[in-house]
Amino acid sequence: MQVTVFHDERILARTLAAHIASALTAKPDLVLGLPTGRTPIRLYHQLGAMHAKGQVDFSRATTFNLDEFLGIPPGHPGSYRAFMQEHLFSRINIPAERINVLNGAATDPRAECARYESAIAAAGGIDVQILGIGTNGHIGFNEPARELVGATHRVELKTSTRRSNAALFGGDANAVPREALSMGMATILKGRRIVMIATGKSKAGCIERVVNGSITTKLPASFLQLHRDVELVLDEAAAAAISAAPPAGAKALIHEDSKHSN
Ligand code: PGA
Repeated sequence: MQVTVFHDERILARTLAAHIASALTAKPDLVLGLPTGRTPIRLYHQLGAMHAKGQVDFSRATTFNLDEFLGIPPGHPGSYRAFMQEHLFSRINIPAERINVLNGAATDPRAECARYESAIAAAGGIDVQILGIGTNGHIGFNEPARELVGATHRVELKTSTRRSNAALFGGDANAVPREALSMGMATILKGRRIVMIATGKSKAGCIERVVNGSITTKLPASFLQLHRDVELVLDEAAAAAISAAPPAGAKALIHEDSKHSN
């Protein structure tokens, strides 16, 4: 697991956006897995700004979002589809038919999950899976549990997760759907390269466990340790627990040269 620490969120977003632009230059038909949440917003806006300057081209790219609320249509303002439209898709030149988000209004959720798995396979699999992480270690809507599900599936959301999504529903946690559809752990881990972003001190504890702890279903992101090509992209606040008390070998993983101050 490679760990890269940036001085702040702004530099992190700029650097990661530049890497994505380079990846698209090298492979214009890149297949990207994308997260929602507060964490990737700066990255998405930066990609939009680069597109406006002609610095990144999504015309042949394909995207697959990690998850979506169940029971609301794609046009609902609280949907992750709407979030993505606002923060990324309206700002870049990706053709609508290359955007893939689970349909929260599907009449047969099981069939919708199977369709999504087939669509990912038909696209040739995900080249770069970008992830955020919940403070409880969830990735997508794969919450800590005794067992984790491999494939894209229907999930019941935890109260804490509904609360943290309340802003999308006018601040009312009760208005947040009780269920969602999410890529599973295997869907995520099949991504050829995984880049997990974490920023802010609220993420420091779980990042320390992801890097140094054991692999456990109680911390879904710990399964990233099994993947051959994972990069954790952190700001200094999220890296605080691994920087302050580096276990044997961990300090060498931290790219000191990524710490700019401009
Ligand atoms: P956040 O959410 O980016 O809003 O912190 C991350 C997540 O829950 O996956």
